[in-house]
Amino acid sequence: MHRIDVGLAERSYPIHIGRQLFSELPTLLTSLPTQLCIITNPTIAAHYLPALRAALPDDATVLVHEIADGEHAKSLSSYGEVMDTLIAASFNRDCAILALGGGVVGDLAGFVAATYQRGVHFYQLPTTLLAQVDSSVGGKTAINHPGGKNLVGAFYQPQAVVISTDCLNTLSERDYACGLAEVVKYGIIYDADFFTWLEDNVAGLNAREPEALAHAIRRSCEIKAEIVAADEREQGLRALLNLGHTFGHAIEAEYYNSWHHGEAVAAGTVIAAHYMLQQGELPAVDYQRIEALLQAFHLPVRAPHLSELQWQQRMQRDKKVQAGRLRFILPTAIGRAELRTVTDWSGVWQAISAVTETR
Ligand SMILES: NC(=O)c1ccc[n+]([C@@H]2O[C@H](COP(=O)([O-])OP(=O)(O)OC[C@H]3O[C@@H](n4cnc5c(N)ncnc54)[C@H](O)[C@@H]3O)[C@@H](O)[C@H]2O)c1
Ligand SMILES: [Zn+2]
Repeated sequence: MHRIDVGLAERSYPIHIGRQLFSELPTLLTSLPTQLCIITNPTIAAHYLPALRAALPDDATVLVHEIADGEHAKSLSSYGEVMDTLIAASFNRDCAILALGGGVVGDLAGFVAATYQRGVHFYQLPTTLLAQVDSSVGGKTAINHPGGKNLVGAFYQPQAVVISTDCLNTLSERDYACGLAEVVKYGIIYDADFFTWLEDNVAGLNAREPEALAHAIRRSCEIKAEIVAADEREQGLRALLNLGHTFGHAIEAEYYNSWHHGEAVAAGTVIAAHYMLQQGELPAVDYQRIEALLQAFHLPVRAPHLSELQWQQRMQRDKKVQAGRLRFILPTAIGRAELRTVTDWSGVWQAISAVTETR
């Protein structure tokens, strides 16, 4: 078992990583309140709810609130339904919210915890690779609005994150690969040695070998914890975590039925890398390594077709846009990236076109 601390002064918290960790909950989480609400969905509950419930104190009042499976459940109406459940059960300010699931459950549950009676205790029990390496750490919580993704939310840190790596055994190939896209991201923006380690461990990671997985999750959480501790509210460094995301969000928005987040991020990362290759600011060999590693993890390295206008409109809505100017995270080498304001649309369009699959 391994512990990483997210250093945020009085809001610091541990990330516990290990196998079969739900059975260890009584020793890991010693100060749980007596009113507990588990938020999950039916798919995840079928696999992991019994083990979680069995690990909770006998004298606790435990509510289970299931939301639908899928991104559409990260909605204002699901949020309202959880509030109804908590209020109907007379849960007070000393209750705790437990998020058992992937990024959808975690983002919604976190926003519930941030806002129920102005904030209650919150525990993350992430069950997807993406949630274990990214969304459960760092305190970004949100729900979607018909006008856009994550438009309603709050920064709200959990009391603890408990990562039980065995959960990943039941994850689909596709969702597993999506998590790897975020793992690759950490190598590109922050840690060239980790990127090389990933290249050397493609087979083990694709086979979900416990040793390889444990290292990849641990290193990813360390990097995320370091970045969040240095810049909790995304005034600078934390923006690097958005590598590939501005392009990715445009793809996700236009193709929400067929492209998942990690896939869109993978293609978006290749576009960002191609832009820097064109500028002569990213060595060709680094560009090729980025593309090859994503491909080795069965991720798309070509973007689907969107018109020039669709790209422009979608990217203008990005939260990084300032005074109408596009800002992107761009890699200057494997292990290093920068936030840049880009004014030459033709260069961006050239990169997008070069990386778009031919029809
Ligand atoms: N808060 C953040 O910092 C942050 C960062 C990245 C992404 N996100 C958000 O995360 C969401 C995506 O998260 P995700 O990729 O985890 O998707 P998800 O939560 O939809 O989970 C993917 C699928 O896997 C299923 N599942 C979950 N755990 C499982 C398991 N152990 N075994 C079998 N099936 C399982 C789910 O039911 C779902 O169908 C997006 O809404 C995105 O905006 C948030
Ligand atoms: Zn992401």
